Amino acid sequence: MPHENTATATLPSGHPRELASAPGSEWWRSAVIYQIYPRSFADASGDGIGDLAGITQRLESLANLGVDAVWLSPFFRSPQKDAGYDVSDYCDVDPIFGTLDDFDALRDRAHELGLRVIVDLVPNHCSSEHEWFQEAMAAGPGSPERDRFIFRPGTGDNGELPPNNWHSMFGGPAWTRTTNADGTPGDWYLHLFDSTQPDFDWTNPWVWEQFRQILRFWLDRGADGFRVDVAHGLMKAEGLPDIEEAAEEDSELAEGLMGSLEVPYWGQDTVHAVYRDWHAVLAEYEGDRVLCAEAWVEPLAKAALWVRPDEMHQAFNFSYLATPWLAPRLRDVITESLEAFTGVGAPSTWVLSNHDVVRHASRLGLAPYAAGPGAGIGPSSPEKPDAALGLHRARAATALMLALPGSAYLYQGEELGLPEVIELDDEYRQDPSFHRTGGEVYGRDGCRVPIPWEPDAPAFGFNTTGESWLPQPETFARFAHAAQADVEGSTLELYRLALALRAEHGFGLGTLTWLEGYADEVLAFRNGGVTVIANLGDAPVELPAGEVILASDPLEAGAVPSDTTVWVAA
Ligand code: NOJ
Repeated sequence: MPHENTATATLPSGHPRELASAPGSEWWRSAVIYQIYPRSFADASGDGIGDLAGITQRLESLANLGVDAVWLSPFFRSPQKDAGYDVSDYCDVDPIFGTLDDFDALRDRAHELGLRVIVDLVPNHCSSEHEWFQEAMAAGPGSPERDRFIFRPGTGDNGELPPNNWHSMFGGPAWTRTTNADGTPGDWYLHLFDSTQPDFDWTNPWVWEQFRQILRFWLDRGADGFRVDVAHGLMKAEGLPDIEEAAEEDSELAEGLMGSLEVPYWGQDTVHAVYRDWHAVLAEYEGDRVLCAEAWVEPLAKAALWVRPDEMHQAFNFSYLATPWLAPRLRDVITESLEAFTGVGAPSTWVLSNHDVVRHASRLGLAPYAAGPGAGIGPSSPEKPDAALGLHRARAATALMLALPGSAYLYQGEELGLPEVIELDDEYRQDPSFHRTGGEVYGRDGCRVPIPWEPDAPAFGFNTTGESWLPQPETFARFAHAAQADVEGSTLELYRLALALRAEHGFGLGTLTWLEGYADEVLAFRNGGVTVIANLGDAPVELPAGEVILASDPLEAGAVPSDTTVWVAA
């Protein structure tokens, strides 16, 4: 019979015996935070693009699901060249999403339901249509307006080559050349993403002041915190040196949204001063406001630098998201995460899906999933997911994740077991990475299709008109919220039960203790009074004594079948 480690037991490959969540009782240390992608959640206006009023109408379903907070992807004024991550006014709502009054109504309803509201801050770049960039273009070379961004002369005999060899994350060079007022070719500006997303120069104090004001604007309006976009990218290495040849190949998009991490624009030490500054701003406000870093940095010990006590509060755990469905690898990443984040007094976070990666119900049906974030899958991808296997594993993966100490992020639709939409015709694809790579990279549209609420309604209840900015496949009917609510064994009910039990047993602030005596393909641990077994192997695993309080799929004759997770209270 498997047994719990005792003080004298030998620990498997150096696993510490107890991996506690860092102490503290702030809400975000244990919170489950649900990502809403406003374009695709609910559409009250019926124009085919989701909006804030639509979200407000559906918030109750999230309170019923049992999450603690919602994070809204950008809804600010934007030409929508990168689905809102190209902001042209940080302090206003884009008309396609509604108005500031709609935001206030959403915030009030959320708070009434006990849900916190996190907004998405995009500080690395803005839209080329932002007045700050327009002013910079008009003011010309050498002006203070240009110093807000990163303009440089080109190289080559006549400045016809970009200032360095950096690539855009969406394909092609990271530089675009300007045209001077007299029509002659001018300087180049840096954009790590689309050419419509110029990077700010964060060595300029003017930029710091603008963002302090933006933080205050949303904090004053009752935002409970910020998810910080590209939080590892604001500072570039001095002198903007070329990427070394070895990293250069890797830095191209084929590697995924963030490319190689060993480049002079990711993870520079100087970026931390920015977050100390913001931490102080948030600390002026009551209510444990939170900063969460979207920082693609490795190893985990480095990611933990973003959440030292005077910086951000949380950082996304992309190492966890990127770990294949292999027990030894997961065991290691869980252990390393808890050690790294606890080491700086922060909770670990856990995430399996978001708006940039192939949904985990599909990703886990590809074995092993090799493509990086952002690469996507489409009709001519060489490998297609096994949908049934993917969903089966996704349920087990979620049951594993929600049993871990720390805070977890969910992406809209995963509670329905929604798969990636693969059969999406090219004419509908909107991701700039698809267009900048001439269709070589499918990109992220497949995980952004409006989610289904009703099986038989127009646009599956996304709105009442049947319009949808990306076409929804017929198969969405069976994943619809209403088709799963109160249906025993549905993915929606699995999530609800898991969230209720997670809260009841205090997993978020708990302590993980690995159990010995199990095969390598099995993850077995205790958190509080519950034993968790995730069987990633082929052979069934004997159930431990106690009461099964959750099983990701049906059990077989007293055993945990392959790709299944159980929680047993004893
Ligand atoms: C990360 C966001 O999650 C992604 O959607 C966006 O395209 C890039 N940052 C650029 O803002």
